[in-house]
Amino acid sequence: MRKPLVAGNWKMHGSRAMVAELLDALITDLSDGFDTSEIAVFPPSLYLSQVRDALTDSPVVWGVQNICSKDGLSGAYTGELSAGMAADFSCTYVLVGHSERRAMYGDTDSVVAAKFALIANQGLVPVLCVGETLKEREQNETSTVVSRQISAVLDSVDGSLLKNGYVIAYEPIWAIGTGVTATSQQAQEVHAEIRKLIEKHSSDMAARTRILYGGSVKASNAMDILGQSDVDGALVGGASLKAEEFLAISRAAG
Ligand code: PGA
Repeated sequence: MRKPLVAGNWKMHGSRAMVAELLDALITDLSDGFDTSEIAVFPPSLYLSQVRDALTDSPVVWGVQNICSKDGLSGAYTGELSAGMAADFSCTYVLVGHSERRAMYGDTDSVVAAKFALIANQGLVPVLCVGETLKEREQNETSTVVSRQISAVLDSVDGSLLKNGYVIAYEPIWAIGTGVTATSQQAQEVHAEIRKLIEKHSSDMAARTRILYGGSVKASNAMDILGQSDVDGALVGGASLKAEEFLAISRAAG
């Protein structure tokens, strides 16, 4: 069975003091051996060293929010960091294709596919984010957009790179940071479609791939959304910065 994953995307939030306090609260609360869902955090990369030091030997794993799309583990790419560097810091996961990167930093479907392959090639697990705008939903284009975003990756990636699997995060853009969530039925519908799409590539992969929902998930709505059969966890933004909220969501998933 698929173990739920609850992942905290901190975006560009944090300070050394805040990271210490948040991780301390998570570790203390989880010290009773909680293991019904997997918990991951995605700090801004500057804090990776601090996060790794704090979380080694804890049940919480970590990852980065983005990597460079250019080939190679190092090179003349000012300001970038490579998938190899994420591996060097013992990351488990890497986010790729988040809507904020697609909208603001030129992450087209082909850039996302390139990054996805580089992440998988390092033995890390890509968390591929997909989702439609409000206009696209209103025009009944949700399925078309989401399948285009997923197919752009699955049709191009070398299957031998996928032995560690991947995670998909369905995040309707209109629900991100807005306080509006998809209804559990809307989420389930899209998640079931995504699983069918993966099935076309591999039925084994479809059965084991975790499909997370993201977009204004908080403690008060987590139970409802995470109760759906094809919702295997959550990608949490704002609420992942508050230990109590994030822990409550993790427990609702388990
Ligand atoms: P949110 O962000 O939970 O603050 O809506 C989710 C995300 O962008 O991953």
